[in-house]
Amino acid sequence: MAGVTDRPFRQLCRQLGAGLAVSEMVTSDTRLWGSRKSRFRLDHCGEMAPVSVQIAGGDPEMMAEATRENVRRGAQIIDINMGCPAKKVCKKAAGSGLLRDEKLVADILQAVVQSTSVPVTLKIRTGWCPDFRNGTTIAKMAEDAGIAALAVHGRTRACGYRGEAEFDTIADIVSRVKIPVFANGDITSADRAREVLDYTGAAAVMIGRAAQGRPWIFREIAHFLATGERLPEPTLDEVRKILLTHLGELHRFYGELMGVRIARKHVGWYLKTLANSESFRKTFFQIENAEVQNASVHEWFERRITRGAQAA
Ligand SMILES: Cc1cc2nc3c(=O)[nH]c(=O)nc-3n(C[C@H](O)[C@H](O)[C@H](O)COP(=O)(O)O)c2cc1C
Repeated sequence: MAGVTDRPFRQLCRQLGAGLAVSEMVTSDTRLWGSRKSRFRLDHCGEMAPVSVQIAGGDPEMMAEATRENVRRGAQIIDINMGCPAKKVCKKAAGSGLLRDEKLVADILQAVVQSTSVPVTLKIRTGWCPDFRNGTTIAKMAEDAGIAALAVHGRTRACGYRGEAEFDTIADIVSRVKIPVFANGDITSADRAREVLDYTGAAAVMIGRAAQGRPWIFREIAHFLATGERLPEPTLDEVRKILLTHLGELHRFYGELMGVRIARKHVGWYLKTLANSESFRKTFFQIENAEVQNASVHEWFERRITRGAQAA
């Protein structure tokens, strides 16, 4: 997820049980890779293998070039974005905007797969709009082109993020292709993951927003799928440890000025899951310094842990 799954967050998700974590999308226009945003997105130093990098664009030759260049920089999997509905991406005939031009989809898939020996995966939606749900056609084209695995978000491009994800199209895709399919959309718990896998027959589930502020969702799902047992919620002490590790990595990765700003939204997501955190959230958002951010999180949890111990 652009703006969310940066290297520190991916690393944390992998440590907490995610089998694979794909980079934020990077433009296929390599001329733009000098921008600050792209430089951070292209940094995979020390990342757990396999390093999967998502590229977005609408020109087959540029997508092939971006593939070669990313592989040269350490990508072990290239993921093609045909799932993003953002206007900025769609207007340039990229992301899910491509889904209505099947000839161009075929050309991009072929160009990217043929440009590299690393596996190429594809992320799509179920189609362009509810009346043109061509996800199955695209999936078959992907298989024929040599795509190694396919992630499908159970909404059309026109649906944006509205309504509920639907899994009938994903089940249809699974029944018609042999490559692994990852089902995606609104999966927020281990139980829901199990239901979606059973309903669609997909090889895996992919989690987006439910991991924001809850990166341990991956171990909850992995454990439940492997054993049928539900893991207990992490204790406050463990949430604090995870959050402080996350903050430290953000500060290190982006530097203090940018790291402090990016940390705010993540802390907001973590605290959303905890009752009576609104006033601390407001205070936290004013902090401009990494050390003070760490200390304030530490103390806030400390007070809650102590109160909990006294009440017990
Ligand atoms: C803030 C945000 C950024 C996203 N960026 C990307 C992206 O760069 N590439 C991509 O394939 N999907 C992107 N997505 C879509 C998610 O990967 C996912 O398909 C969608 O959120 C549905 O899954 P979920 O309900 O588990 O979040 C993004 C979603 C959000 C909310």
